[in-house]
Amino acid sequence: MRDRYTATAIALHWLIAVLLPGQFAFGLMLDDIPRGTPERGFYVNLHKSSGIVIGLLVLLRIVWRLTHVPPPLSDTMPAWQRHTARFSHALLYLCMLMLPLSGYLASNVSKHGIKFFNLVRLPPWGPDDKLLYAFFNQTHHLTALLLALFVGLHVLAVAKHMLIDRDGLLWRMWPRRAIHRMRTRADLPLESR
Ligand code: HEM
Ligand code: HEM
Repeated sequence: MRDRYTATAIALHWLIAVLLPGQFAFGLMLDDIPRGTPERGFYVNLHKSSGIVIGLLVLLRIVWRLTHVPPPLSDTMPAWQRHTARFSHALLYLCMLMLPLSGYLASNVSKHGIKFFNLVRLPPWGPDDKLLYAFFNQTHHLTALLLALFVGLHVLAVAKHMLIDRDGLLWRMWPRRAIHRMRTRADLPLESR
């Protein structure tokens, strides 16, 4: 049984961990662009397009996760902590999936549809329904807030493992080569680092 995540899981985790907060900030920035202007159309379509790309990466990650067993958590961790960790990871996956999906569904029940990277028009496949749009838009808004909350708790949990339990949990999700480089540097005398 391996004691760390695979290189693919690590690459997808960190790629998505960098892209999601950027996309979140981009979403909030949209509020500052006046409605009905060409700029808004341009940036909203850019947000939709990068969101779709992130959504596809999330799908890939979920497929990967469903077909691979994660490294087991340490036996020294109380059972409730192991259950909480698995449950919070499931919530993170759910939010990561619901967020782009709700945005995508909202865009397809509105006459605007999506203009992929402002180049290719993807006409909406649903009806132009204001009520449905409001529902998916609210879901998008709420899921974004929930994801931010869960990511905050996730980072706090990792910090607790690293600073209080000192069990090196972070290294399970850290590229092996980077750890090797850090260890080699730590072995060198100070003046030659
Ligand atoms: C993948 C990650 C995504 C994140 C983190 C994200 C985040 C956000 C955030 C934080 C907002 C502002 C919410 C508000 O102020 O109500 C927003 C707005 C919006 N998002 Fe996303 N989004 C994502 C994907 C998508 C996708 C895939 C689409 C559509 C295909 C989309 C369509 C929209 C639209 C149209 C708005 C503006 C809503 C409005 O102001 O009426 N988003 N997004
Ligand atoms: C948008 C930001 C992030 C998201 C959505 C996210 C999501 C996730 C998910 C879903 C897992 C579970 C992996 C699995 O078992 O399939 C995970 C694991 C992990 N994440 Fe994050 N993460 C984010 C940011 C971070 C950050 C900033 C850190 C570092 C402080 C971090 C450190 C870790 C570690 C160490 C694990 C492995 C935990 C274990 O061994 O059980 N993550 N992350």
